[in-house]
Amino acid sequence: MDEPHANPQPNLRPMTPCPGGAPVTRKRFLQLLSSLFAAAGLAAVTGRRAVAQEPLRMPAPKRAWDKVEFSYPGAGKDFPGFAVRLPDTAGGGLSAVCRICPHQACIFGYETDYETVGGIIGKDLANPVFFCRCHFGTYDPARDGTVLYGPSSRPPWRFTVREEGDDMIVTGIEAGAGNVG
Ligand code: FES
Repeated sequence: MDEPHANPQPNLRPMTPCPGGAPVTRKRFLQLLSSLFAAAGLAAVTGRRAVAQEPLRMPAPKRAWDKVEFSYPGAGKDFPGFAVRLPDTAGGGLSAVCRICPHQACIFGYETDYETVGGIIGKDLANPVFFCRCHFGTYDPARDGTVLYGPSSRPPWRFTVREEGDDMIVTGIEAGAGNVG
């Protein structure tokens, strides 16, 4: 019977020549190892950078509290987003957030019927909200996605957006977007 939990022994045999090639010397082995680490480091760096991909251009929402839905191509996956036009009373401009709920990654919606949402969560709400139906996470577009209700310890991840004429251009997304562990 095999010994349970036997630790595999490290292979300490001398290195053998590559088929059809020169023997792998210790120096060559260390060079290979260092290039592997360099490649891994580069992947990590480009992975982080890749979160900010090509800018994404589309018509911006026009009237106060209008929203535009989009999908931003990130590193290996797309990030669903909303951009909401804020009224001047809420600072104006756009509130652009990733729809992946920072609690447990459900995809949240945008609710203009905020009185009904307020009834669900037992709060008086003053404006439309981002609302996650999984555990009623409620986020305020007018205050940078502040958590109004629910289990999330942070607001949704934000996109960086600028406006040009009638268009908006999404240029990046906050680091760590979509990581809910
Ligand atoms: S996943 Fe959105 S509140 Fe829990």
